[in-house]
Amino acid sequence: MNIPKPNDGVAWVTGASSGIGREVAIQLVQAGWMVAVSARRAEALAGLAALHPGKMIVSAMDITDEVAVRAGVTAIEAQAGRPIVLAVLNAGTYMQDTAGGFDVAKFRAQVEVNLIGTANCLAALLPGMLAAKRGQIGVVSSLAGLAGLPAAVTYSTTKAGLIAMCQSLKFDLDRAGVGISAILPGFVKTPLTDKNAFPMPFLLEVEEAARIILRGLAMGRFIIAFPGGLAWPLRFLRILPSPIFFALVSRFTKW
Ligand SMILES: NC(=O)c1ccc[n+]([C@@H]2O[C@H](COP(=O)([O-])OP(=O)(O)OC[C@H]3O[C@@H](n4cnc5c(N)ncnc54)[C@H](OP(=O)(O)O)[C@@H]3O)[C@@H](O)[C@H]2O)c1
Repeated sequence: MNIPKPNDGVAWVTGASSGIGREVAIQLVQAGWMVAVSARRAEALAGLAALHPGKMIVSAMDITDEVAVRAGVTAIEAQAGRPIVLAVLNAGTYMQDTAGGFDVAKFRAQVEVNLIGTANCLAALLPGMLAAKRGQIGVVSSLAGLAGLPAAVTYSTTKAGLIAMCQSLKFDLDRAGVGISAILPGFVKTPLTDKNAFPMPFLLEVEEAARIILRGLAMGRFIIAFPGGLAWPLRFLRILPSPIFFALVSRFTKW
């Protein structure tokens, strides 16, 4: 795969109205990219674009709406006059859930955004990238996708699904010269984690998280898991026999 460069086309970041996506979009502009920014909150996107005159294309959309996503991608490419060659599919949501509070409505809401929403974005991007035999896609999963973690029944499920989705796609995309990466952040300080009452080890600032993500994409890495202090123990824990896995995760998380 040839890693796309700013002259090759435009970048597209979903979930760019706050948190990780917003910072990734800013750092992409700083690296010379024209960046299309998407989320539902159009005003937040417009405010971000106003800080980067002529460098951002605002494309407000709800990624759960397949038709809107397809139309948004077409409009971005028409406005830019160039194809999307780099996409960071970052929009996502998180609601704590446990066995006691298990609720199908909450499950469906997270599946709709994290899985179906990402699938809608992929469906809009893949035909063009496959035809051009060019492009790179980063899908923001989570370290919580490596294993089922406490109080994340649905979140872990959706994020594990995204990792499997990326792995499966990679077989075909490699042959077409299109890059795909699964991005697995640990705890990053954003509006999404601001609501967490529990301790968040190795909490990163968004600036650092975005730098790590963009460095990993520039290197064409398939798994971009960070920070190492959390990523490596989790990668190791999940290959341990189940009784040891459950005992250690319960102990570390005090759950
Ligand atoms: N923060 C962490 O510790 C952490 C760790 C691992 C993984 N992640 C993942 O990183 C990604 C970004 O999270 P964040 O922490 O930066 O949280 P955030 O600040 O809450 O950002 C989430 C973004 O997703 C957008 N979004 C949510 N639902 C959407 C929808 N239906 N359509 C379009 N956009 C939608 C939101 O914008 P609107 O509300 O304007 O639509 C917002 O821009 C998520 O996928 C999250 O699961 C975060």
